[in-house]
Parts: sequence; structure tokens; C-alpha cells
Amino acid sequence: MASLLKIDVSPRGGHSYSRQLGQTFVEGWQAAHAGGTVVERDLAKNQPTFVDLPWIAGAFTPPVEHTDEHKAALKQSDEIIAEIKAADHILITTPLYNFQVPAVLKAWIDHAVRKDLTFDYTEKGPVGLLKGKKVTVISASGGLYVQGEPSGAYDYLTPYIKFIFGFIGITDVTVLSAGGASNIRYGKISEEDWKKPFEAQALELAKA
Ligand SMILES: Cc1cc2nc3c(=O)[nH]c(=O)nc-3n(C[C@H](O)[C@H](O)[C@H](O)COP(=O)(O)O)c2cc1C
Repeated sequence: MASLLKIDVSPRGGHSYSRQLGQTFVEGWQAAHAGGTVVERDLAKNQPTFVDLPWIAGAFTPPVEHTDEHKAALKQSDEIIAEIKAADHILITTPLYNFQVPAVLKAWIDHAVRKDLTFDYTEKGPVGLLKGKKVTVISASGGLYVQGEPSGAYDYLTPYIKFIFGFIGITDVTVLSAGGASNIRYGKISEEDWKKPFEAQALELAKA
């Protein structure tokens, strides 16, 4: 049975464009994957902690030697990694903040990228340990950044997301960049018309 893990990032709840487009994706995904399960993690409501000294000590100590402090520090990371491992497809809905992923999403990534669990270092270099998974990221931004055009150079989220999931073994990564949302605020386009092409793209991606 297909399984989708949905990670939501925006603190704007129902007003968030990335969340709204994510909901369209989920409806399309459910239509295309009858009986599939959807697990949700809301990083705005349940903010991940930052990596600290007990986390580092625990992550680089063999599990058999873990102290209670190591175990407590790694609990969130263990849960986040278990959710990722259980999913076939990971959907992340996120704003673009200061040309990058928001800090809460970076904190989630810091829990997910863990030696011996999601990547390893070998004589030939680093190796991603996750296989056969797909990631779709729906990002919303005020400005419009198009990969392959000069404006795309300002979008550091897209190349970073592709790199970091590739690092842990997931190379099937698609980023739907829903740019130009500030035109809604400036009255240049209605919210409905702005969303239309991105909803169509989200539904197309959900079929895969
Ligand atoms: C703290 C902050 C930083 C932002 N940085 C950028 C940015 O670098 N580039 C951009 O185009 N829009 C930026 N925006 C605008 C958001 O990307 C835009 O409002 C988007 O719709 C937010 O996603 P959401 O609707 O899912 O909450 C920023 C907004 C905030 C609040």
C-alpha cells in the first residue's frame, strides 16, 4: 500500500499558499493511490529542536552505548527518520524564506541526515542509505525565480533540497516553485488565478 509523508512548514495555517497547494496534491495523490496512507507532520505546530551537544554525542556513539541523555536527545531524530523510512513519497510544503528553506525545515533536515541511519561514509566517499523513495517539494514565494534563467540564481532552496535528499540516497526529487505570490497582494492577479497553474502542476505530480 502506498504511503505519503506530508511535512508542512508555513506558520500561516489555512492562509498559506504552499499548504493550500499541498492539499491539492494530497487530494490528487489519494485519488491516484486508492487505500494509500497519509502521515502528516506539521513543523509550525511541532517545531523540531536544534542539534545540540547531547544530540551530537549520541549520534556518534554506538547505539549499544547510548546513555539516557543520548536517547532523549535523539528521540525526535529517531521519530523523524522512522517516518521517512516508512514512506514511499515525501511531500514538503514550504515557504521560501530569505532565499532558502525556513529554519524549522532546516532543523527537520538536521534530524533526518544521520550517520549510519540515512547516510554513511565509505572509502569511496559518502553514500546515501535511503532507496526507492520520491520527494516532492511545493514552495511558495513572493518573487518569481525560474531555474535556468538569471532569476533562478536567487533560489537557494531548490538546489539545496535536491542536493541534501540526494546525499541521503533520494534522487527522485521534484520542486514545484510557486513564485510570484506577491502579485496577489499588489492586486495584479487574483489568488484563484495565481493558484490555477500550480494546482494543475501539483495534480500532475500527485499521479506519479
Ligand atoms: C521571513 C520571510 C522571508 C521571506 N523571504 C522571501 C524571499 O527570500 N523571497 C521571496 O520571494 N519571498 C520571500 N518571502 C515571502 C514568502 O515566500 C511568501 O509570502 C510565501 O507566500 C510564503 O509561503 P506561504 O504562503 O506558504 O506561507 C518571505 C516571507 C517571510 C515572512
